[in-house]
Amino acid sequence: MTNTYAIVLAAGQGTRMKSDLYKVLHPVCGKPMVEHVVDHILGIGADKIVTIVGHGAEMVEETLGAKSDYALQAEQLGTAHAVQQAEDRLGELEGITLVVCGDTPLIKSETMKALIAHHSDTKAKATILTAHADDPTGYGRIIRDEDGNVLRNVEHKDASPQEREVTEINTGTYCFDNRALFDALKKVKNENAQGEYYLPDVIGILKAEQALISAYVTDDFSETIGINDRVILSEAEKVMRQRIAETHMRNGVTIIDPASTYISADAKIGRDAVLQPGTMIEGQTIIGEKCIIGPNSHIANSEIGNHTTIHSSVVRDSLIGSGTTVGPFAHIRPDSKLSDNVKIGNFVEVKKSRLGEGSKVSHLSYIGDAEVGTHVNIGCGTITVNYDGKNKHTTTIEDDVFVGCNSNLVAPVKIGKGAYVAAGSTITKDVPESSLAIGRARQENKEGYATKLNLN
Ligand code: UD1
Ligand code: CA
Repeated sequence: MTNTYAIVLAAGQGTRMKSDLYKVLHPVCGKPMVEHVVDHILGIGADKIVTIVGHGAEMVEETLGAKSDYALQAEQLGTAHAVQQAEDRLGELEGITLVVCGDTPLIKSETMKALIAHHSDTKAKATILTAHADDPTGYGRIIRDEDGNVLRNVEHKDASPQEREVTEINTGTYCFDNRALFDALKKVKNENAQGEYYLPDVIGILKAEQALISAYVTDDFSETIGINDRVILSEAEKVMRQRIAETHMRNGVTIIDPASTYISADAKIGRDAVLQPGTMIEGQTIIGEKCIIGPNSHIANSEIGNHTTIHSSVVRDSLIGSGTTVGPFAHIRPDSKLSDNVKIGNFVEVKKSRLGEGSKVSHLSYIGDAEVGTHVNIGCGTITVNYDGKNKHTTTIEDDVFVGCNSNLVAPVKIGKGAYVAAGSTITKDVPESSLAIGRARQENKEGYATKLNLN
């Protein structure tokens, strides 16, 4: 087997994004574009990946971590110069080198594989991935001879009006014989409109040396979109969103309206789950089978069991069991753990709390820093008073407790197993097991007073 290496170009600033964030770190469906590129390369099983970093080098390295090796391009003198920075790491090796721009996150692993296979089959020294664009503005154009052989690439800014008519574009992805690549790079000049060392000039250089050049034309232009500004970013987002939705639908997830459903690239969703419109699933979220999510739910970095409903609610960094219902209009904040068959009703906020099996908080409550046992019923309007202005304190509610409506549980406090808190209580002392706690002013009835005061 021939060794396969990959170089990802990610050193540019991305001036056209007009952003404080470096271009390749802008997210597409929640994941930085360069990470999509590297993940797709990992999908083809490359033997080594070298990412060329420059602008925002530290942040790019932090984002990709151990998925890649790195080479620094201290000054951005062009894409050929960028690739040259990998020479120390790759220059001496025998094999095939795939070069991909860090701003083309939609190129699939399968297309990379097909490109490499084409390159190997044709025994070319260089193979360029091309596509036909309806609007080729901004892309390099592929110049072929009368017989259809690729001669060279010409950048948009350097192209003659006639060359600009060409709709076959350079996608910025290539496959090279590794040795031939590094030899040719030394011959690239920067005599062009941008004063840069252009990587695609390698094609013309190798061609002039009679090397065999090949092109692999992909029929899906949308896959090759290069993101240079935020208008194209939104187009890429749309393509990726549709692609992710399709994958889930083919795996048995119902998505009522894919156009209004946002699913991160790394989310996992079980069979027969239903995603209703306006739903956003972010980060490393896992959703179990037969869940109903939405309409209008927002779930980030959370794990949800099977048969659970999350209706018009927000869930972040939390674990939610099976057969549980949340919402409508609930907010599950980070570090919460709801077990199976829990019910969280409307206008309930849960923060950094645990609720045991079968427990219910059905309406208008705040449960923060609480340890709640199993089969607890928390009445409407209950507040765990967890904050004294300086510190947060824990409320412990043991199994089978019943908390009456409109109670304040002033933490730190513990309600023992099977205890009962009368409605309207403010509980400041621990309640022993199986006890009834009443913490409210006694009611007094003044008979006949209403009539006397003419109140009715
Ligand atoms: C490039 C190609 C063009 C192709 C298009 C496809 C060149 C000269 N042109 O143009 O033929 O149609 O991609 O999307 O290669 N980068 C570096 N160091 C540098 C310059 C760029 O690492 O010195 C990186 C950028 O971070 C970016 C990638 O290379 O991820 C491409 O650079 P960009 O400036 O976007 O090239 P395009 O003008 O789009
Ligand atoms: Ca680009």
